[in-house]
Amino acid sequence: MLPESESKLNGSSRPPLDIASLVKQHAGENYELHAAHINPSNVRTLKTIGFDRCYTRAEGPYLWDVKGEKYLDLLSGYGVFGLGRNHPEVRRILKEFLDADYPSLVKMEAPLLSGLLAAELKRRMPNELDMVFFTNSGAEGVETAIKYAKCATGKPALIHCKKSFHGLSTGALSINGDESFREGFGPFLPDCRAIPFNDLGALEAELKKGDVAAFIVEPVQGKGVNIPAPGYLLEAQKLCRKHGALFIDDEVQSGMGRTGKFLAIEHDGPVDPDIVVLAKTLSGGFVPVGAVLCKKWIHEKVFSSMQRSVVHSSTFSQGGFAMAAGLAALDVLDRENLIANAAKMGDFIGQGLQAMVPRFEFMKEVRWRGLMVGIEFGSPKSISLKIAWTTCHALDKSLFPQAAVIPLMDKHHIITQVAGHAVDVVKLLPPLVINEADAKWFLTAFEDVMVQMHKFPGPAWDVLTGIGKMALTQRAR
Ligand SMILES: Cc1ncc(COP(=O)(O)O)c(C=O)c1O
Repeated sequence: MLPESESKLNGSSRPPLDIASLVKQHAGENYELHAAHINPSNVRTLKTIGFDRCYTRAEGPYLWDVKGEKYLDLLSGYGVFGLGRNHPEVRRILKEFLDADYPSLVKMEAPLLSGLLAAELKRRMPNELDMVFFTNSGAEGVETAIKYAKCATGKPALIHCKKSFHGLSTGALSINGDESFREGFGPFLPDCRAIPFNDLGALEAELKKGDVAAFIVEPVQGKGVNIPAPGYLLEAQKLCRKHGALFIDDEVQSGMGRTGKFLAIEHDGPVDPDIVVLAKTLSGGFVPVGAVLCKKWIHEKVFSSMQRSVVHSSTFSQGGFAMAAGLAALDVLDRENLIANAAKMGDFIGQGLQAMVPRFEFMKEVRWRGLMVGIEFGSPKSISLKIAWTTCHALDKSLFPQAAVIPLMDKHHIITQVAGHAVDVVKLLPPLVINEADAKWFLTAFEDVMVQMHKFPGPAWDVLTGIGKMALTQRAR
């Protein structure tokens, strides 16, 4: 006889899997399952900040939890849900694909849908980019760009910015500008050097060393929501060309219309990147899809002969379902004018927040480019609020913005995030489909949170000091 655990896995006597019943049967067990099987420390974090909700339904910019409560999602799964969740058009197209019995991943062939998606992507580029490689994530796109740059230039060094984020695979981590992500995972790729964002002098000094394969940059830095100075990206690209290094534009988060243009780099004029990396919104939110676009000469260096025709590849690259999702995402982006909506709603939110700055001492600056929005806090003038500021920072350098993120969730059911480690920035990455009513929901909520935060001592601070003390005791253990 089989042991009980094995007999349960032996499927012949079992009814067919029914996802809806399975979900219903286990509703609310999320955190128990994750604590046991996936990531207990993440469960502790989510519980501590009150993000331990069990969502059961999603549509557009909204989520509903197991109790039927509605939430406004201004995090968008780190930017994946640019089109909102469960977009009906993307779903229709994907259902059509599934129902058609198309072949996928034959491999020793040239699939039609990836050819069509590549052409659609190229059409939307602001500059001439000729060849497309499809990936399953942003990090895989960055790895591709690193390999292409080294192969095309024959040089070893990679220049990236401090505070940069390009993913968490080993190559991408080698050009990550935040030590807290890197700790424990070294040694990294050699010849990776960090320079300050917005510093052309530092870039030229590195390029002059003559060993640089590429400079990789996010046109809006996701960690901290740092916006480039006017002309920085254009000049940086020209400097790279002058010194024979490639300019890699990492648009994984900022691309696909999020900033009010298809690529965020377009805000800086006629920039001519050698490589552009896309992912996130290209997926339509259903299946991972990323893309790397590059100039023909680079491609020819990498795939230089028939023997090298698959020298860079990935098993799941160009999967039919993923390609259909990419085509659907681009179609929806155009049809619903979502890029224009991102620009409009970004300004609406940004200006609404900016108008609050003079009223609230903790608010230092609001930065936005379309729907990438950062609200930076700073040290206040009044003595009592200064105590709150200093106490929080002494307990934990990443704690302060939680004073806004936690009540936004708790009281107003709005999902936001802190924009990285040791920054005083709350970040919004709303779906591009949000409307004025959603934006007002957020602005009214944020104003209320600011009013409460500016009462010290007060209940708004009790939760935070509790969390800070807990963080301190954990670190001491
Ligand atoms: C600019 C940028 N590049 C690369 C990545 C990595 O993408 P992924 O998480 O899909 O690997 C991210 C993810 O947030 C990103 O923001």
